[in-house]
Amino acid sequence: MKNQQIVLNERPVGIPQPMHFSATSNEIDLSPGEGQIAIKNLYLSIDPAMRGWVSLEENYLPPVEIGEVMRSIAVGEVIQSNHPNFVKGDCVYGMFGWQEYCVVDVATPMLRKVNPNIAPVSTALGALGPNGLTAYLALHEIGQIKSGDTVLISTAAGGVGSIAGQIAKLMGCTCIGLTGSDEKVALCLEEFGYDHAINYKTCNNLEDKIRELAPQGINVFFDNTSGHIADSVYPALALNARVIQVGTAAIDNWETSPSGPRRDRYVLTKRLTIAGFVILDYIAKFPETLAQLAHLFQEGKLNYKESITDGLENAPMALTNLYEGLNKGKQLIRIC
Ligand SMILES: NC(=O)c1ccc[n+]([C@@H]2O[C@H](COP(=O)([O-])OP(=O)(O)OC[C@H]3O[C@@H](n4cnc5c(N)ncnc54)[C@H](OP(=O)(O)O)[C@@H]3O)[C@@H](O)[C@H]2O)c1
Repeated sequence: MKNQQIVLNERPVGIPQPMHFSATSNEIDLSPGEGQIAIKNLYLSIDPAMRGWVSLEENYLPPVEIGEVMRSIAVGEVIQSNHPNFVKGDCVYGMFGWQEYCVVDVATPMLRKVNPNIAPVSTALGALGPNGLTAYLALHEIGQIKSGDTVLISTAAGGVGSIAGQIAKLMGCTCIGLTGSDEKVALCLEEFGYDHAINYKTCNNLEDKIRELAPQGINVFFDNTSGHIADSVYPALALNARVIQVGTAAIDNWETSPSGPRRDRYVLTKRLTIAGFVILDYIAKFPETLAQLAHLFQEGKLNYKESITDGLENAPMALTNLYEGLNKGKQLIRIC
């Protein structure tokens, strides 16, 4: 069987571009060995984290090697099984890569079955998967959110931000979202639970606007961007605010130190708590959190949005476009 794949061609400096990847086709033997299953991928995830995975800069996972299939979580269908717990037709989630088919050991970390009766299986890559987990766990474990808090979330209309706003709102918080277009501002207000949303690209003075919307200050800052956007938020933080560093999308280049104001005085005078969040540190909490997210979805309390691009060959461009802010909600590739 021919297996179309996207491999890493060259290490990007800055934002990955399509030229850093290439499409190949290899023969694959789809007969699973003992304890293995053969999978046909249905949806691939496009994640900002991929920029880190193709870089040699220090990270929480080893870099993808040149010539290796691009690492990616995916949802697929079992087409052959050599393990008693899996049968043909089961839907599964795991690190299956940017390719059409793969054969994996069922003991592979993170591999799990997806129940198609709860929600469309693609949601296992977004709202009922890593995005929902990140939103829920970061807000609770590090943000320590409680009713009455004012929570500010950047990339508010993206995969993580769209869920984080709704969860914070359900917890009784006031939610302010920052995002990059008026269309996304409307989505935040109408579908993702935000009380206020700001287009940071057109706002004349972001710091003043945040202070106006949160006169008592921001209690929890869910920072997905860092950079100049975060620079406008720090002065508006409340005493004892918690900052969750979830992403750094606004840092264009990791090879040189980003410039900007120092935050030390805010940390001191406002007694800030700042902590990094990496989803892989919370694997033990995944089952109960996924159950909680599924419950919210089934009760009609959790909206989700997906930007779906068809065709494996479009995965690299979709990754570049993520850094243009072209996605609304979770960006996926559907394998035709
Ligand atoms: N630490 C973890 O375990 C973990 C897990 C999952 C995700 N994350 C992080 O969470 C964040 C959101 O992830 P996601 O998957 O939901 O992606 P996403 O928000 O759906 O997509 C990325 C968004 O980032 C914004 N963006 C892109 N380039 C930017 C720039 N130069 N400056 C400012 N904003 C920029 C755009 O939104 P706007 O148009 O609104 O600017 C874009 O839509 C990312 O930083 C990601 O790395 C972390």
